[in-house]
Amino acid sequence: MRFFVDTADIAAIRELHELGMVDGVTTNPSLILKSGRDILEVTREICDLVPGPVSAEVVSDKADDMIREGKHLAALAPNVTVKVPLTWDGLKACKALTDEGHMVNVTLCFTSAQAILAAKAGATFISPFIGRLDDIGLDGMELIADIRQIYDNYGFETNLLAASIRSVNHIIECARIGADVITAPPAVIKAMANHVLTDKGLEQFTADWAKTGQKIGA
Ligand code: E4P
Repeated sequence: MRFFVDTADIAAIRELHELGMVDGVTTNPSLILKSGRDILEVTREICDLVPGPVSAEVVSDKADDMIREGKHLAALAPNVTVKVPLTWDGLKACKALTDEGHMVNVTLCFTSAQAILAAKAGATFISPFIGRLDDIGLDGMELIADIRQIYDNYGFETNLLAASIRSVNHIIECARIGADVITAPPAVIKAMANHVLTDKGLEQFTADWAKTGQKIGA
């Protein structure tokens, strides 16, 4: 299972990358806004830091404009993955950009029908949004399972990139289902290390160790 980090925060990416936790990065216009950085500059910087795929999103709604923007983004670094929305124009842009050899991540996927079209258009990654489906009372994880089954039924090569992840449980469920990649905010990835019994056990060991009066290597 590959881990992508869903942020444009360089310090957060660096911290996880140094621990070997980052196989790629995803950004979107909202994350670029949050970073306060110029999209071209921050994308280049992330690509220098992380060798894996780095998604940068186009912002136009017409295929020709998306293709133009996509080529501009792809020229920044060889590991840029052009992110296009799952609209009819986005699918056209996906086909054109993948035909030219660029990696494409089709984003804002909310149904398995959309995921089938993305695979047919040659997408490198499909990004179904779990959390946003949960937000409206639907089951985001059911979509991940459906896409996994459909892609496996037909041997589609598009990577299932589970997105809009809000919790550690989302990541575990994705791992059970067999998502190829998850993209999650740094805080959710770091929260995977936490357990109340780890904290409680450590507290006990620290207290008991102090009572021994011993030191290691001092
Ligand atoms: C994925 O590529 C998106 O950037 C992201 O996962 C969206 O997550 P959100 O629904 O929490 O904004």
